[in-house]
Amino acid sequence: GERLDFRTSKQRLLVVANRLPVSAVRHGEDSWQLEMSVGGLVTALLGVKEFDTRWIGWAGVNVPDEIGQKALAKALDEKLMQRCIPVFLDEEVVHQYYNGYCNNILWPLFHYIGLPQEDRLATTRSFQSQFDAYKKANQLFADVVNEHYEEGDVVWCHDYHLMFLPKCLKERNSKMKVGWFLHTPFPSSEIHRMLPSRLELLRSVLAADLVGFHTYDYARHFVSACTRILGLEGTPEGVEDQGKLTRIAAFPVGIDSERFIKALELPEVQDHMKVLKQRFAGRKVMLGVDRLDMIKGIPQKILAFEKFLEENPNWRNKVVLLQIAVPTRTDVPEYQKLTSQVHEIVGRINGRFGSLTAVPIHHLDRSLDFHELCALYAVTDVALVTSLRDGMNLVSYEYVACQESKKGVLILSEFAGAAQSLGAGAILVNPWNVTEVASSIGYALNMPADEREKRHHHNFKHVISHTAQEWASTFVSELNVTIVEAQLRTRQ
Ligand code: ADP
Ligand code: F6P
Repeated sequence: GERLDFRTSKQRLLVVANRLPVSAVRHGEDSWQLEMSVGGLVTALLGVKEFDTRWIGWAGVNVPDEIGQKALAKALDEKLMQRCIPVFLDEEVVHQYYNGYCNNILWPLFHYIGLPQEDRLATTRSFQSQFDAYKKANQLFADVVNEHYEEGDVVWCHDYHLMFLPKCLKERNSKMKVGWFLHTPFPSSEIHRMLPSRLELLRSVLAADLVGFHTYDYARHFVSACTRILGLEGTPEGVEDQGKLTRIAAFPVGIDSERFIKALELPEVQDHMKVLKQRFAGRKVMLGVDRLDMIKGIPQKILAFEKFLEENPNWRNKVVLLQIAVPTRTDVPEYQKLTSQVHEIVGRINGRFGSLTAVPIHHLDRSLDFHELCALYAVTDVALVTSLRDGMNLVSYEYVACQESKKGVLILSEFAGAAQSLGAGAILVNPWNVTEVASSIGYALNMPADEREKRHHHNFKHVISHTAQEWASTFVSELNVTIVEAQLRTRQ
């Protein structure tokens, strides 16, 4: 039949995500400094411009006093391109919900790392109290959504932090249009079933009208979790429970590619490019840009680079790896361990292969601003993305967007969602296989120009035609259609 298209520039959209696009740092009694948040979710959602958007989320800071809360809410409302509304979470909730349940339980499980040992063996108490805090935090997000909701709004919930939110929202207002999108992989049902709260989480997500994933595989895993764990019927459209259909589909995210391409013309970016080119003249430059997270396979990447240097002495003074790894979730012990592990490996390799004038690895624990990042993407010869699992990986998209003139090579993990879209142009690798990654580095560095051009062209076409805006428009349009279809079904 005829497809209804609800895309309009006037649609009000309430984006609900754990993190706001800016994080606040207190400056004096009631003044705040706002810093850009780092992560794929923020990058994607900031590329969405077609809607009248309000973004509800946590500002990454504890604000116990009411005066401070009001001051921060005002600062957030005034400054930004998208209006931001803060959700305030106290320290204990953040500890149990964000550090605990989200980043120590759901995150590793969804990336096939498994559950932490202590929770598996010990008291179900600590697990249970973290899950209780998770539900409490989701209720607090629901309170703020309710406060700002107007009839007709589309409410789009994001990520593993807010799997309980669709249920909270629908219980209070069954007419609300609710979508939920996951930015991580959804694992095989055999992995998901390890989770003690597996039933409750699946049921809460199913309260949404539309559930979206980056890839068809993640959507399929979710449907089989619902059929195998909940015993529900999976249909080509989604999952059905007592006559209620929850639509489930893949919506691969993209970036605002134009923003990157245009930035390359800016004088400040050109200046950064000039400095970098001078600094590394005569050497090939390989680039890694990641949050310092165990899923990114940073130790594996560095070890593969070491193996490459070991086996190719002729390259030792001619290639450098720049690894920019911004610290993330630093209160979670696993992340602290990773930081020291990476520092230890980098030190060892630089000691082994460095000289008085040059080292093979430049590792920075920091984020770069947008202009520096664009310049780096543009001047480097090879990008190395070695995620052990990754929902999509937008760094790979950003690299491709900035390589129109240089036509650098992308080495990409087959375990990143992006392997399904950029696989034909990239060199795909299994990041666990250090030998394979090392030989791919050699292949990339020696690749003839015509092959580089062909591969780049393939990926560039994809990146400029699958944007963040397109992703959001398709999701919201699909959500509106889903709701009209459900209304028609109940009338029949
Ligand atoms: P994730 O969401 O897991 O962090 P993505 O690759 O999808 O992974 O997105 C990461 C986003 O964060 C990208 O937009 C990238 O530019 C940005 N980013 C990651 N690391 C850094 C860094 N060290 N400095 C600046 N930006 C970074
Ligand atoms: O894209 C994955 C993701 O978990 C996002 O949800 C999040 O914004 C990003 O990584 C950064 O993590 P955090 O919000 O914990 O700093």
